[in-house]
Amino acid sequence: MAEPAIEDHYSEDRTFPPPDGFVADALVRDRSLYEEADADPEAFWARQARELLTWRSDFDTTLEWDLPFAKWFVGGTLNVAENCVDRHVEAGRGDKVAIHWEGEPGDTRTITYADLLDEVCRFANVLKGLGVEKGDRVAIYMPMIPELPVAMLACARLGAAHSVIFGGFSPDSITDRVNDAEAKVVVTADAGYRRGVASMLKPNVDLALASTPSVEHVVVVNRCDTEVHMEEGRDHWWHRLMADASPDCPAEPMDSEQLLYLLYTSGTTAKPKGIMHTTGGYLTQVAFTHKYVFDLHPDTDVYWCAADVGWVTGHSYIVYGPLANGATQVMYEGTPDTPGRDRLWSIVEKYGVTQLYTAPTAIRTFMKWGVEEPEKHDLSSLRLLGTVGEPINPEAWMWYHRHIGGERCPIVDTWWQTETGAMMITSLPGVVTTKPGSATFPLPGIGVEVVDDAGNPVERGGGYLTLTRPWPSMLRGIWGDPERYRDTYWSRFDGRYFAGDGAKIDDDGYFWLLGRVDDVMNISGHRISTTEVESALVAHESVAEAAVVGATDPTTGQAIIAYVILRGNVEPTPEHGELLRQHVAQQIGPIARPKTVILVPDLPKTRSGKIMRRLLRDVAEGRDLGDTTTLADPHVFDEINARAADAP
Ligand code: WTA
Repeated sequence: MAEPAIEDHYSEDRTFPPPDGFVADALVRDRSLYEEADADPEAFWARQARELLTWRSDFDTTLEWDLPFAKWFVGGTLNVAENCVDRHVEAGRGDKVAIHWEGEPGDTRTITYADLLDEVCRFANVLKGLGVEKGDRVAIYMPMIPELPVAMLACARLGAAHSVIFGGFSPDSITDRVNDAEAKVVVTADAGYRRGVASMLKPNVDLALASTPSVEHVVVVNRCDTEVHMEEGRDHWWHRLMADASPDCPAEPMDSEQLLYLLYTSGTTAKPKGIMHTTGGYLTQVAFTHKYVFDLHPDTDVYWCAADVGWVTGHSYIVYGPLANGATQVMYEGTPDTPGRDRLWSIVEKYGVTQLYTAPTAIRTFMKWGVEEPEKHDLSSLRLLGTVGEPINPEAWMWYHRHIGGERCPIVDTWWQTETGAMMITSLPGVVTTKPGSATFPLPGIGVEVVDDAGNPVERGGGYLTLTRPWPSMLRGIWGDPERYRDTYWSRFDGRYFAGDGAKIDDDGYFWLLGRVDDVMNISGHRISTTEVESALVAHESVAEAAVVGATDPTTGQAIIAYVILRGNVEPTPEHGELLRQHVAQQIGPIARPKTVILVPDLPKTRSGKIMRRLLRDVAEGRDLGDTTTLADPHVFDEINARAADAP
């Protein structure tokens, strides 16, 4: 028998059917969407596109598929900004709150759909005045303030593509992205509030723009009233331009395949990839998933995605999905520990948040901070919870379920990527019985298979996650590099999109994500996923967070090295490492027992919260650390190196 691509050791028996109280009002209570989509996926998506969006002219072909290049809803025209804003105002919902914005220092703004329309139109006129035309690119480097979605929607209104650059990136990262996109205009702010201080943005733009010949103008929002340099003729204050701009800017219909945005993700090589998303298909799938996965009741819900708009999660589930669906949402500027570690819970209570969407890394941080923090607040308004970004360890899932969801909220664990544009594997919460740690099943209309090394589908067990057919919000390519698009995603398995993730299918057919395949370890010929070992560690009562890597080992090929953060109240004994080694052996099997457990105060993470195992592998193997500039906190290594040197 062939070796399995990834072995499957961890098993989870707890199941959670949709809670009765939830099902009673759920939008979807039966399997009809799945059945409809199975019967004819294209017809299913065509129906969603026509039902969820307002088209200026209907499409005549649902899908043109010339592998790996897709066109969806061909011949149709629509305007994204009109779908996200104008049509709600025209339908008499102009007074409905679109965004309850909460600044970190405690200042607030309430923005209705009518306000949003006014600002989007004005800013679209500002951009026009600066020479921006359909097809141009606009770079956006901003804090989490309302002007950020306004700027994005203004671009969409004109048919200019935005390229949002996360506010934590360095001047060099800005230069690379602006140059790759050849952006004409940059929209930024003086600074944004983080951890109680004004975190400067404009000086980074000034440094970056020393070598970006394409940029003609910079628009600067005054968020923090700091002193910034304003380059004569190039830099303009947002509020000055807006005061003079007309609020009248008719939305022009765009082709369904008009480029909506670029969003850069880092790949295996240094050069980031500009992922391309377009108009009709993208908006259809983000609106569909936002509505049905979050069970949106737009008249009563207050939805909150606690991500940053600088990541795809914010693009799809703060800006485009919720606004297309006419939702009321919360947007928060700052960090979860400012002024106290209960800030998120105080916001949930204040606005009566009904759906909360966040990342496992945040949940593990909340676990570390202790249950006292959420217990200070009334969280009874919550009726659904979501996670995204990484596999969620079953114990983190249980903690979220108990301490945030009060055991009454379904959890949707949503697997997707910048490249997929929208959720792909997750549950419809009124229908699917969940298991802690499993993303459950592909959504209606999505084709997913796990395959072995040779590309043969695996019915049960581990392998590589692939997508078997095009989906409306799929990336349309990598900006300026169609060959790289084909090579990166479509060459490993014939006719399939390879996501780069390992996955397994359990005996009940549930999908379990096992992390990036470059994180799979090979221990004495057994291919074990880092995720499973990490979940076993987090299941121990003393552990808040764990990162596991395979380090080269003369006898076993690779050996498992575990970096562990203990929960706040735990005092480690000298035997603690041994205790955790035995715990893993007991939970998964002796094959997965870590060779070394290193207790650390912190883990290296990207700014989007993903653990950088590559760097931990470098430490474990005694190599110099390469580029650490994408780390959220470059100093975490001082302590990790010291502890690693002490480890047995
Ligand atoms: C991982 C974020 C397990 C995965 C939307 C994927 C997940 C990568 C999950 C994409 C999940 C995201 N369970 N793994 N629910 N969600 N991932 O582009 O490895 O920032 O390939 O998009 O995150 O990260 P990206």
